[in-house]
Amino acid sequence: MKRLSFSIILILLIIAASDMPHAKVTGQCDNCHTMHNSQGGAPMARGDQAWDGTGGATDARPNLLVASCIGCHSSTGTDTIKTYNGIDFPIVYNTSEPTTNLLAGGNFYWVATGCTGANCGNAKGHNVLGISSADETLTAAPGNVNFCSGSCHISLATTDFGAPGCCGCHMYPAHHADDTGPVVGAAVSSTDGYYRFLAGHMSGNNHGVCGIEDPDWQATKGAGDHNEYLGWSGDKGYAAGFYNLGHTMTAFCCGCHGNFHKEQDSSGNWIRHPSDAEIPATGEYQYAFGSVGGGATGTYDPDVPVARAALTSVTSTVTIGGTSPDLVMCLSCHRPHGSPYYKLMRWDYKNWPGSGTDGCGKCHTSKG
Ligand code: HEC
Ligand code: HEC
Ligand code: HEC
Ligand code: HEC
Ligand code: HEC
Ligand code: HEC
Repeated sequence: MKRLSFSIILILLIIAASDMPHAKVTGQCDNCHTMHNSQGGAPMARGDQAWDGTGGATDARPNLLVASCIGCHSSTGTDTIKTYNGIDFPIVYNTSEPTTNLLAGGNFYWVATGCTGANCGNAKGHNVLGISSADETLTAAPGNVNFCSGSCHISLATTDFGAPGCCGCHMYPAHHADDTGPVVGAAVSSTDGYYRFLAGHMSGNNHGVCGIEDPDWQATKGAGDHNEYLGWSGDKGYAAGFYNLGHTMTAFCCGCHGNFHKEQDSSGNWIRHPSDAEIPATGEYQYAFGSVGGGATGTYDPDVPVARAALTSVTSTVTIGGTSPDLVMCLSCHRPHGSPYYKLMRWDYKNWPGSGTDGCGKCHTSKG
């Protein structure tokens, strides 16, 4: 009997594994690479040009690529997945307002130079080279502790500082790394490309983000269909980065916004919103995410994600209180690329109540 149920479990595991999409790139090399940047005497490369756009630079790219980061990850359409020769390209910058399959990281549409829609503006995204000019208000990353002039801590948008744009955050792109996971980036010097190629340098050298990658980048999403993020309830009185917060998403953001991690004063009062606090089973928090209270779990909401103290598989519940509660983190409130809302918020915080949304109420159940 035992052996039979073991075999059944094994078969189920094999089925699950064979069903698992590989997030590393597949398909014919020439969809993405060109050997001489010449075919029939005409160049093959399209540089920064968005999918289905025309014109643009046609010079050869490093790694013999047919396009730049922006070229492969932007589109003139409104869908954020572009399928070409059977390969799905995740789109992070649509030149028309994206309406279909919005991805986890948000979109650079609203912060792009030339965006004229109602929700466009400088504070709607990170200003990235090739998409947007430098921020009109911010002269450095707010909360920056690493004053290296000429770096991405100052701007991700100016050539003056030699900022490499996307690679300021996705420091070590590894499209051919095997990130079948399910958990990627767990170890120091991971060879799986870390979570979404997000890594550090200097004191964060050989460290990157640990997480579970949703195979369609949350184009479809639900309580049991989403990315998973690592969190850690560390010391809350200090600036932070990978060096003291482990391989968490909050540690990654703090690489440039380190002082925002000084969230408690010496008496333990909150002086900034926590970005790594456990959700306690007390007061209003015990009812977070629809929990009935008393330490019962809530329902995961990909629009207000939480981080986990440990990762094994995608889980549809939120753990409140107990020995290993889930945590609030930077991405509980922000999108990393951009959003239609002020300060890259995941929901319209600024205009609530009224036309906005009370995302805060997911955890602060007695307010509003
Ligand atoms: C869907 C797009 C895509 C396809 C298809 C693709 N590559 Fe790549 N490849 C990339 C990108 C993007 C890089 C840029 C650097 C990185 O992320 O590693 C790259 C980098 C490389 C590199 C240099 C870095 C390394 O990992 O060694 C080699 C060599 C390479 N590709 C070979 C190939 C070959 C051979 C094929 C076909 C079997 C192929 N690629 C198919 C996108 C692709
Ligand atoms: C030739 C086309 C091409 C180029 C150039 C390219 N990418 Fe990609 N990229 C892809 C495709 C296709 C995927 C989806 C397959 C995958 O998950 O690896 C992808 C996936 C990604 C992902 C998500 C990885 C994951 O785990 O799902 C990130 C982040 C990314 N690219 C960043 C970059 C950055 C940064 C650059 C510039 C250094 C770049 N890409 C250049 C085609 C490209
Ligand atoms: C490589 C450095 C770097 C990293 C990592 C980084 N940022 Fe930033 N961030 C900046 C810079 C530079 C600015 C100021 C210029 C701008 O808005 O692009 C900024 C601005 C912002 C703003 C204000 C935007 C505005 O225009 O008003 C928010 C919100 C923000 N970052 C959130 C985050 C979050 C959340 C993360 C983690 C997912 C993160 N940042 C990671 C460099 C970084
Ligand atoms: C401020 C840091 C930052 C910058 C700059 C940045 N990214 Fe990202 N990117 C992230 C983070 C964080 C995620 C993971 C989002 C999540 O899983 O919730 C991500 C996710 C992605 C993904 C996977 C799709 C998704 O939405 O999850 C792709 C592809 C990608 N980025 C490409 C790019 C490209 C191309 C650029 C430059 C045009 C860029 N990124 C600039 C931080 C950044
Ligand atoms: C509880 C929600 C929430 C969390 C968690 C959160 N933020 Fe924010 N963030 C906001 C709001 C709302 C604003 C708008 C300004 C304000 O209300 O203080 C903002 C503004 C910002 C700004 C712009 C500051 C400026 O001077 O313009 C940056 C940068 C930023 N956040 C980064 C981060 C980082 C990095 C983390 C994680 C360490 C984080 N945020 C966690 C809600 C949050
Ligand atoms: C994912 C859950 C979550 C979300 C979303 C969230 N918070 Fe919080 N918030 C917390 C947790 C956890 C604490 C710390 C609780 C404790 O003291 O242990 C906290 C603390 C606070 C505090 C300090 C409370 C005190 O006791 O001093 C304020 C104020 C606050 N949050 C406001 C907001 C606002 C405004 C928003 C929306 C922009 C927001 N929060 C979104 C989880 C959340």
